[in-house]
Amino acid sequence: MGQPSWNEVDGYIVERLVRHDDALAAALEANKAAGLPAIDVSPAQGKLLHLLARMVGARRVLEIGTLGGYSTIWFARAVPPDGVVVTLEALPAHADVARKNIERAGFAAKVDIRVGPALETLPLLAGDGGGAFDMIFIDADKRSNPEYLRWALKLARVGSVIIVDNVVRDGAVLDANSGDDDIQGIRRFFDDLAAEARLGATAIQTVGSKGWDGFAIALVERD
Ligand SMILES: C[S@@+](CC[C@H](N)C(=O)[O-])C[C@H]1O[C@@H](n2cnc3c(N)ncnc32)[C@H](O)[C@@H]1O
Repeated sequence: MGQPSWNEVDGYIVERLVRHDDALAAALEANKAAGLPAIDVSPAQGKLLHLLARMVGARRVLEIGTLGGYSTIWFARAVPPDGVVVTLEALPAHADVARKNIERAGFAAKVDIRVGPALETLPLLAGDGGGAFDMIFIDADKRSNPEYLRWALKLARVGSVIIVDNVVRDGAVLDANSGDDDIQGIRRFFDDLAAEARLGATAIQTVGSKGWDGFAIALVERD
């Protein structure tokens, strides 16, 4: 037997543990039909996010970076009936596709999509009195990750979990001289995470249908 690829192993895992899901499959189809890039989390990663949200009993989830709402649907399934997922998306065209996907999946009442650059919508969220978020998923423009981490801390409480996607980027995170603003944003984010006394954090490399990348995960340990 030749060396199986990450993709094939992901297929094996998904076939057994994630299983087919009409609403999520329809969302991916609609994303493709609308020409959205296939940069959503993978099915196995979506289920991981879903399980993590349930493990911490998340009632309020904040997502930065909606795309077509694939990860949003996973989170909406994780929060209780009176829970909420607030998701921030810069592009109206992406938000429109997401809105339809989320409606079709039956979660319109639980999901609040805010359209606009996240650095403009986050301050509004801070002032709307909705309370702290139990889980915050950062998955938008990577160059802004340091600012998103600062906002996540403002919008969290002790015990909240912050998860950040795409922190490895095929290993490009190691390139201190990278001319890519996203890589520099990820590197500054790691430095901030390392220096942040309120957080306990680690990062895990991932391989699979989305290639070689990684998640950072942090727990708010103190005020
Ligand atoms: C990787 S995709 C999100 C994928 C989604 N979380 C999923 O797994 O299904 C990143 C999204 O962030 C959006 N985005 C990029 N810059 C942004 C910004 N400054 N504010 C809000 N959203 C932004 C992009 O338009 C894109 O839809």
